[in-house]
Amino acid sequence: MYSALLLLGPLVFGQGEGKKKELPPIEVVKIDHKSPVDFNKEIWPILEAKCAFCHSGNVKEGQYDMATGQALIKGGKRGVALVAGKPEESNLYMMSGRMKKPHMPLKSEEPFTPKELALVRLWIEQGAKMPTEQRQKPKVVISAPPKLVQPIHGVAVAPDKKTVFAAVANRIVEVDAKEGKVLRTFRDESLTPEKDPLKNPGHLSLIESMALSPDGLTLATGAYQEVSLWDVKTGKIRHRLKDFSERVVSLAFSANGKLLATGGGAPTEEGEVRLFDVSTGKETLKLKAPHSDTVFGVSFSPDGKILATGGADKFLRTWELPSGKLLKSFEGHTHHVMDVSWKGDGKSIVTAGADQVLKVWSYENGEQIRTIPGHTKQITRVVFVGTKPEVLTCSGDQTVRVWNVDNGSTVRNFGGSTDFLYAVASSSDGALVASGGEEGTLRIYNGSTGNLIKSVSLK
Ligand code: HEC
Repeated sequence: MYSALLLLGPLVFGQGEGKKKELPPIEVVKIDHKSPVDFNKEIWPILEAKCAFCHSGNVKEGQYDMATGQALIKGGKRGVALVAGKPEESNLYMMSGRMKKPHMPLKSEEPFTPKELALVRLWIEQGAKMPTEQRQKPKVVISAPPKLVQPIHGVAVAPDKKTVFAAVANRIVEVDAKEGKVLRTFRDESLTPEKDPLKNPGHLSLIESMALSPDGLTLATGAYQEVSLWDVKTGKIRHRLKDFSERVVSLAFSANGKLLATGGGAPTEEGEVRLFDVSTGKETLKLKAPHSDTVFGVSFSPDGKILATGGADKFLRTWELPSGKLLKSFEGHTHHVMDVSWKGDGKSIVTAGADQVLKVWSYENGEQIRTIPGHTKQITRVVFVGTKPEVLTCSGDQTVRVWNVDNGSTVRNFGGSTDFLYAVASSSDGALVASGGEEGTLRIYNGSTGNLIKSVSLK
């Protein structure tokens, strides 16, 4: 449905032989405004309505966050967004006025009116003043993901291999593994249903992570500042886990299904790792400053006595359970550690890196055993397939692969994806494999042959 919109987009704005026509700059009008512009009353409401859903909370496009005054000035990838007294040097003004690229907002959303732009201009001329008294947590805007963004950030395979679960944008669906038919969606009943019953939201914001308990009875989904534990039989939420500092980007169940570990935390500030009792939903442990950056991977040792975590600070760390004492730190990746997985014998751990390699670590010796190159973009997930010495990976390079960790060779390649992949999972015997990513398409493969069984667009 949205792919149709995507195709229409350029046509609507097109001219001649599909050449894009630029919208002209917004007219600069004079406004009669004697008193100083009031940020809270006059500026924030228009930023909130027209910009902040792409620039705060769970979405920070261009790495630009509008949620606090400081961040609003600081800007994103291109640097300072607001220069007091100088609208022409302020990206916020120049881009929203379509005087500098990229034009803001993006094409499909409502731009500033000339009057709003004039007000922003006047406010910057007057020094871009904002209230400074707020020292508490910034106001966070949580909003539904933009319509054009429908990535799959989580997949899971039911133990009976009959169905596959996928988290696409803010929805959770269960799909028939043979036919590729959507059987049901898991809806958070505290949220307003959408008109299309298949588009019922499972979370308000983008779902960032998903895990299925080994018995297949509990599904965990992580989003901005929350995790929901779903009863798979009824499709209803059993527990809501709250008070996370940021997005929850990794989830793992212990082998006996009793504990859930969560990973996340604020980028470049502090990683967050918490443990919960699955049956009661109560927190049992919160690690103290586990990483200095977002935690992208969590994994329990097979005996449940150790938790391994990997983060954007490039470290793999292991923690004694239930005490939460740091056991070992492993350093070797040159970029974020994106995921971690324990081997079935509990003797080694494999990490996936944004540096495009897998690393195999001996837990006992605390040493690196092997580096496995091959992927050509960051590796976003790694999971051991049952108790075999094989791991399944997916990557930004659009491939899903199986590797033998004992010799570093590629065992199998699963093709067909046409965009960045974020999620991969398999049945414990490796016979059924599922993947998903930026394009919003769930792919189901025969894990033994590598053949594609079904490709299901969930957008
Ligand atoms: C639909 C999402 C969306 C909306 C709405 C939106 N933006 Fe953006 N914004 C983006 C994206 C995507 C980028 C990064 C573009 C790039 O890097 O090429 C960006 C980048 C920016 C940047 C540059 C950040 C940097 O340093 O690179 C500024 C400034 C900005 N936006 C201001 C605004 C303003 C002001 C509004 C409201 C009028 C707005 N945006 C609305 C998606 C959005």
